[in-house]
Amino acid sequence: AAIVEHSFDVRNFTVSRLCRRQVITAVNGSLPGPTLRVREGDTLIVHVFNRSPYNLTIHWHGVFQLLTGWADGPSYVTQCPIQPGSSYTYRFTITKQEGTLWWHAHVSWLRATVYGALIIRPRAGTTYPFPKPHREIPILLGEWWNANVIDVENQALATGAAPNNSDAYTINGKPGSLYPCSQNHTYKVKVEAGKTYMLRIINAALNNQLFFKVAGHKLTVVAVDASYTNPYVTDVVVIAPGQTTDVLLTADQSPGAYYMAAHPYASAPNVSFDNTTTRGLVVYKNAPSKAVSTARMPVLPAFNDTPTAHRFYSNLTGLVGGPHWVPVPRQINEHMFVTVGLGLAPCSPNNPRNASCGGPNGQRLSASMSNSSFQLPSSLSMLQAFFFNVRGIYTTDFPNKPPVAFDYTSTSNALNSSLVFAPKKTSVKKVKYNATIEMILQDTSLITVENHPMHIHGFNFHVLAQGFGNFNPAVHRRKFNLVNPQVRNTIGVPVGGWAAIRFTADNPGVWLMHCHLDVHLPLGLAMAFVVENGPTPSTTLPPPPQDLPRC
Ligand code: C2O
Repeated sequence: AAIVEHSFDVRNFTVSRLCRRQVITAVNGSLPGPTLRVREGDTLIVHVFNRSPYNLTIHWHGVFQLLTGWADGPSYVTQCPIQPGSSYTYRFTITKQEGTLWWHAHVSWLRATVYGALIIRPRAGTTYPFPKPHREIPILLGEWWNANVIDVENQALATGAAPNNSDAYTINGKPGSLYPCSQNHTYKVKVEAGKTYMLRIINAALNNQLFFKVAGHKLTVVAVDASYTNPYVTDVVVIAPGQTTDVLLTADQSPGAYYMAAHPYASAPNVSFDNTTTRGLVVYKNAPSKAVSTARMPVLPAFNDTPTAHRFYSNLTGLVGGPHWVPVPRQINEHMFVTVGLGLAPCSPNNPRNASCGGPNGQRLSASMSNSSFQLPSSLSMLQAFFFNVRGIYTTDFPNKPPVAFDYTSTSNALNSSLVFAPKKTSVKKVKYNATIEMILQDTSLITVENHPMHIHGFNFHVLAQGFGNFNPAVHRRKFNLVNPQVRNTIGVPVGGWAAIRFTADNPGVWLMHCHLDVHLPLGLAMAFVVENGPTPSTTLPPPPQDLPRC
């Protein structure tokens, strides 16, 4: 195994997009940032120099961080932010996982422009559980604002309203030729007829799930979230923020040019969103010279095509016996039923009836899990509090069941319900080392129903089942796939529905679980697991690195 070392120089610079110049914060002067390539078993060392005007952290999305929780990155969870002018070195070994992951800023909305791919290839001497593709192509889907994203976020938080929608989606940082002034900002990839390519698709957009298609070509899904799947042939991929999907594409059409395109899967009714389409080009070598001007555009599903999204998501299965396959835990220590959804916070905390904010009912938008609206600490990170036994940073009262049972997905319990105002807390679920956890994630309809992509740090989970309506144990438990479920780190909990997941908490530390829509994270759609140390030194979190940033 190798040591792979990189330096991230994070600073502001100006780029032009959509007919204007915009200052952005990004890594090493590029958007997206550098693609990191390692093999399973390698150690990654990344020196991050924060030369931007903002507080910064980098998260290695999907990496297990076995005993290296200090390198995980979510601000105020595992570290205080790297302040402007400071630096921090992330060091971790990547074991027992391979495939496509990514890295992104994990503070404010900075990840809109601070992100890149992290590609983990099999160890030397081992290979993929499918024929080796001719070439591998990272496809990072992103979201672009004609504004400073931190201003967009702060304005929303100040008014209590939903933030402004983005102005474009992007493929590898480029909006593509359906947007003004973007002819030259169209991503293009060359292929050779007869060869097979692996597209490593990452949804790095802040707030939208996306449908993705390539005109005229079938896609074979072989992995999601760096876990191998049984090959699944499809013409459309749906991908939520935080998820990755590896597909094989064979250049088996007549030599020409074909568009790849992505636009939102928007599950919430009556919610405004950016409904534009990004596109890039797949061009065959030896294509006729006019091919690009007559390239075919794929027909993407309608924005609200939940059946197509659900079919894609629920047809995926894990590759039993493939590299790094872990069987489903059968003995469960913690049975959790957790609601996820939006709610309200009082406009003025001292007088909840006073309503003059920009959110629904004149209040502020808020969000919660099991009626706790997650609040980040600010004086110390939660992991420091865990390691140094500092009290008062978090409470260990995150419930296994929500405090009140109600008809979660009925549309008649909205707004007027007392359930809508969830208290703000830094509430964690404390579990023993190696505890097995089953969690039913239940969407709620207090403000709106919506598909929430729920991401957990530090672990992968098995997705046992997913469906619509309220979870009903008597009926739905019988449908659990305990044999070959897909393995993920981010699950799109179906709109107005539920998902059942299981995992083993085999890594001591503090692990955030949250909605990967950046619009919902600061509103409180999060909780954290505190996993206690195990009995031996090799199951105990080591002390923090010397250069861990201070608050
Ligand atoms: Cu990809 Cu907590 O994040």
